[in-house]
Amino acid sequence: MPIVTFVNEKKEIQVPQGAILRTEAIKAGVKLYDGLNGIGAGLNDLLNCHGFGMCGTCRVQVTKGMENTNPMTVREKIKFLTPIPTPLPDPLPCMAYIGSEETMRLACMVQVNGDIEVETRPPVNVFGENFFS
Ligand code: FES
Repeated sequence: MPIVTFVNEKKEIQVPQGAILRTEAIKAGVKLYDGLNGIGAGLNDLLNCHGFGMCGTCRVQVTKGMENTNPMTVREKIKFLTPIPTPLPDPLPCMAYIGSEETMRLACMVQVNGDIEVETRPPVNVFGENFFS
């Protein structure tokens, strides 16, 4: 059975092959919803899409074992990689503001097929170098 390591919580859990990360995290009591750097976390606990890949609030960073997950789903590609129109010559991916879009996933869309390491509630780099670029 694959092992999921939650880095922030210092917790390791065994999950069934092909399990959905969000479901297993909730079962293990791992908090996924953080709002914007902690602001609105309580609201997001209630007002999320409950696993349909629509709201983007279950964002996690897969720091190890990305190859042991399913490929990025269409909903994740829309959230993390789809360019938004800008007046700039080089359009920005819509969540380029937060950085790490290659390792960022939606927990509700991640299928665990092998050992992975996950950072929950990754901070949003609102004032980082990407934000105004
Ligand atoms: S719970 Fe809404 S995107 Fe995952």
